[in-house]
Amino acid sequence: MTQGSRKTRLRSQQWFDNPDNPGMTALYIERYLNYGLTRAELQSGKPLIGIAQTGSDLSPCNRHHMELAKRLRAGIEAAGGIPFEFPCHPIQETGKRPTAALDRNLAYLSLVEALYGYPLDGVVLTIGCDKTTPALLMAAATVNIPAIAFSVGPMLNGWYRGKRVGSGTIIWEARERLAAGEIDYDEFMELAASSAPSVGYCNTMGTASTMNALAEALGMQLPGAAAIPAPYRERGQMAYETGQRIVAMVEEDLKPADIMTREAFENAIVVNSALGGSTNAPIHLNAVARHLGVPLDNDDWQRIGHHVPLLVNMQPAGEYLGEDFHRAGGVPAVVAELMKAGLLPHPDAKTANGRSIGENCREAENRDPRVIRAAGEPLRENAGFINLKGNLFDSAIMKTSVISQEFRQRYLENPGDPMAFEGRAIVFDGPEDYHERIDDPALAIDENCILVMRGAGPVGYPGAAEVVNMRPPDYLIKRGVHALPCIGDGRQSGTSASPSILNASPEAAVGGGLALLRTGDRIRIDLDKGRADMLVSEDELEARRKALAEAGGYAIPDHQTPWQEIQRAMVDQLAQGMVLKPATAYRRIAQEK
Ligand code: FES
Ligand code: MG
Repeated sequence: MTQGSRKTRLRSQQWFDNPDNPGMTALYIERYLNYGLTRAELQSGKPLIGIAQTGSDLSPCNRHHMELAKRLRAGIEAAGGIPFEFPCHPIQETGKRPTAALDRNLAYLSLVEALYGYPLDGVVLTIGCDKTTPALLMAAATVNIPAIAFSVGPMLNGWYRGKRVGSGTIIWEARERLAAGEIDYDEFMELAASSAPSVGYCNTMGTASTMNALAEALGMQLPGAAAIPAPYRERGQMAYETGQRIVAMVEEDLKPADIMTREAFENAIVVNSALGGSTNAPIHLNAVARHLGVPLDNDDWQRIGHHVPLLVNMQPAGEYLGEDFHRAGGVPAVVAELMKAGLLPHPDAKTANGRSIGENCREAENRDPRVIRAAGEPLRENAGFINLKGNLFDSAIMKTSVISQEFRQRYLENPGDPMAFEGRAIVFDGPEDYHERIDDPALAIDENCILVMRGAGPVGYPGAAEVVNMRPPDYLIKRGVHALPCIGDGRQSGTSASPSILNASPEAAVGGGLALLRTGDRIRIDLDKGRADMLVSEDELEARRKALAEAGGYAIPDHQTPWQEIQRAMVDQLAQGMVLKPATAYRRIAQEK
């Protein structure tokens, strides 16, 4: 304890040690004594450290945090702090209807209230499953008390008949094989279960691995903390060190806004490209940045990230899984490779351990160049996102690094115009419409079609559905066409390898251009120019706009829960982070008097 070196009183002392207001102090303190804490502990100026617990029986990906919290507590106590563990709203990506993304902002709101309203001097954010990471980082950004993130870690590698099977990714593959009649229902279920062999989050480079790695790249985790598999001994050891470190961060008054600067976000964008990170990353990082007041948009993602090569050979873009990534050196080894090539824009950005990311990672060893490539021998060049614009939307992103050879040959590489293609639009209004009609022969879908999903954005399908990666009709798959170009105002699972045009903003439900599109229209995509347009005359578009307004706008399904209605009334678009617009006016609220 270095209470003497501290400049100001701890925040918690306003609750627990305020002789000017003995009545309130007594009320605040007495219940916290009733399970064995002593008055001396609570009034001695020890930092009170929250453990924002995302694990529960409802959240299997993060459930191991319930065990790891013991080591967090031990670390906090060893450093002279007092741990206060409390539950966060559960968010299980694979278990929540209609989509876990609906709950990100709800978990954010409730954590803001907990951090602001209780006597906490610092907090450990227990992150993991997809939306838990952004929800907790967003709340830490808004409140701005000292905070450190701690990953639950990925699952062990999945294996099936001697081959690595990655969580999520195998489901997309197996569904195609089931559709093609190559496997039956039982084998499909067996394959799915084999991809999830232990506690932890998805072992592929999906949204969870991406967001946990980016939390480290942003500087919010200790170096090396993201990639350690959940069951490994190092995971518990890292918990202990994280618990110790947050106490010191309180003493140093090192807060989220000091770490998550514009420079830190630029580093994270570059690391995301090198990882082959999820298309959900721009949504979530843009959201965290907005709550901090750091300017960040999808143009930044293209400008800063597109030219960066893919270094990490993990599914879905590559072949390996989470254990392999950890053994190869994890995020520090990736950062070291980027630094060697001069690709990390801000090595001086400060991190949670008080040192810069450059100091932390410069000497990190790449222990397996098959898993983490050197920048001179990447898996692919230009692995970042491109930000498309046109009369269909103002912004939609595409991950070009997952474009397959088959797709490239069929749609791109035309002599004379190598990065552009045109197709006939087949329009679906939401996932149910797609499932009903995709195999309908009347649509006459062929390889010159572009599948369009609308009504799947934050307002159309509350939370924005992960449904834009649409598989072609069975009759096309049987003919060897495994992917058609897809466009949509929804999202795509980070574990899917489809080369889709995603997160289109504004969405159809709020009057975006997609609402005017009709099946049969021609669409032109030009990746070089960054354009996506429907080839429909302005007169015709104006007539459709009028007709749509007369019909009362693009129809959306009814709300199913109160939160759906509340969120729909105030949510922003995917390109703007899908944040609750009124919440962005509240910044660094713990500092306000
Ligand atoms: Fe929880 Fe993938 S479903 S991490
Ligand atoms: Mg997902």
